[in-house]
Amino acid sequence: MSRRTFVAAAAATTLAACGGRGSSTSAGDKAGEGSAAGGFAPLNPLVKQRADAQIFRHTDGNYYMTASVPEYDRLILRRAPTLAGLSTAEEVVIWRRPTEGKMGGHIWAPELHEIDGRWYMYFAAGNAGQRPGDVFEIRTYVLQGPSGDVFKGEWSVLGQLETPWDSFNLDSTVFVHNGVRYICWAQREPGIDTNSNLYLAPLKTPTTLGAAPVRLTVPTLPWEIQGFKVAEAPAFLARNGKVFLTYSASATDSRYCLGLLTADEDADLMSAESWTKSPEPVFVTSELTGVYGPGHNSFTVDEQGRDVLIYHGRDYKDIVGDPLYDPNRHTRMQRLYYRPDGTPDFGIPVGNGEVPDRFTPASQPGVYLRHEDGKVLAGEGPLPDTQFRQKPGLAGEGTVSLEPVTAPGRFLRRLETGEVVIAENDGTATFAEQASFRRTAGLTEASGVSFAAVELANAYLRVVDGRLQVGAPASDAERAAATFLIS
Ligand code: AHR
Repeated sequence: MSRRTFVAAAAATTLAACGGRGSSTSAGDKAGEGSAAGGFAPLNPLVKQRADAQIFRHTDGNYYMTASVPEYDRLILRRAPTLAGLSTAEEVVIWRRPTEGKMGGHIWAPELHEIDGRWYMYFAAGNAGQRPGDVFEIRTYVLQGPSGDVFKGEWSVLGQLETPWDSFNLDSTVFVHNGVRYICWAQREPGIDTNSNLYLAPLKTPTTLGAAPVRLTVPTLPWEIQGFKVAEAPAFLARNGKVFLTYSASATDSRYCLGLLTADEDADLMSAESWTKSPEPVFVTSELTGVYGPGHNSFTVDEQGRDVLIYHGRDYKDIVGDPLYDPNRHTRMQRLYYRPDGTPDFGIPVGNGEVPDRFTPASQPGVYLRHEDGKVLAGEGPLPDTQFRQKPGLAGEGTVSLEPVTAPGRFLRRLETGEVVIAENDGTATFAEQASFRRTAGLTEASGVSFAAVELANAYLRVVDGRLQVGAPASDAERAAATFLIS
């Protein structure tokens, strides 16, 4: 019986039977698969078998990461100077659950927060005990850590987060907005027949609320109640004059997905009426790219300051047994983009491999290369069709090949006519040569890139009449059409 069934049943009498995972070194403890190869983008999965990841870039320039481990028995930390570096960064255990009593059950979804110069770790924990359901007596606790270097110093249990109900609560996140520090969390509220709803309140001390919480959302929409009625894992983002809270909904299998609450940045965040819920999920399973159950996200920025979505997802749809005990929710990342109205466009989970980029011709600001019906065009189109992976070139060292996220296994290829198409790799040397390019600084903007055709002199990818071709740019305008700005 999964924890959600347990929670629903616990309202009655019987307690869930729940096996625990024996403690083992999960693959995530070893070198991950996400490190950048040969100066290319970070690779997804970024960190294997780490779910519910919180990754943030600190003012010290480092990236910090914590996450749930498959054994649900400890709190871990990683630090690296780059996002890709998190994949192979040393993983430090800062706390292990006790063998009995409170906090001796499942340890879930930690978040590290610096409050008034001191580090605190928020996490959800069940209890150890003889009753099968003890591990699911999930409540939110706070560890107090050191000031300064989070890896140097002691951690101690500060206490349990005080909420209005003694009920299942988890997935706390803390953020400051307009000078107020808030905490947002998921909790089961007596009298509401759901597994969890989202609540928000100002944080008075690290474990106490500064006001009665406001209930932000209850899972009622079809995509929120698949398997279980869930709103959990909130994450905060302020951009473009608005504030956003993503949350995760439904069962933790391939139906798990992201929802979005939006408010004006100057609204009263403690008023439920300030928040608008997106009627549809904003980020869901993609059979095309092979990512299932994307959710429990956090937000950060990459080394260039570009917004990044962090989330977990599996490589497969069908799960044997309780999804909660399937260890393969891997940490993943991709860039986050925005619509003209300033709201985030999450697109689709981009799948395993290099984190993709978008390419804007310097000659046409505001549009992107996109593929459609086998052609590569410059213009407006669905975000996923504008995302291309820069992969190590099929022609070998010093070359790059471009693979559309929504056409996995196909590549951008030049034809003898100079046309450029998206074609399946036929494994021939000719294909490898025609689908490989030497990346150079932009012909008209050093901050951009240009792609010189292999084995052709002075021939570059360039946009002509809205379509990508290969040819010799003979003017500044043509050189601008052969220069691409990456976002
Ligand atoms: O990963 C453990 C729990 O499962 C997390 O706290 C929750 O967000 C998810 O559903």
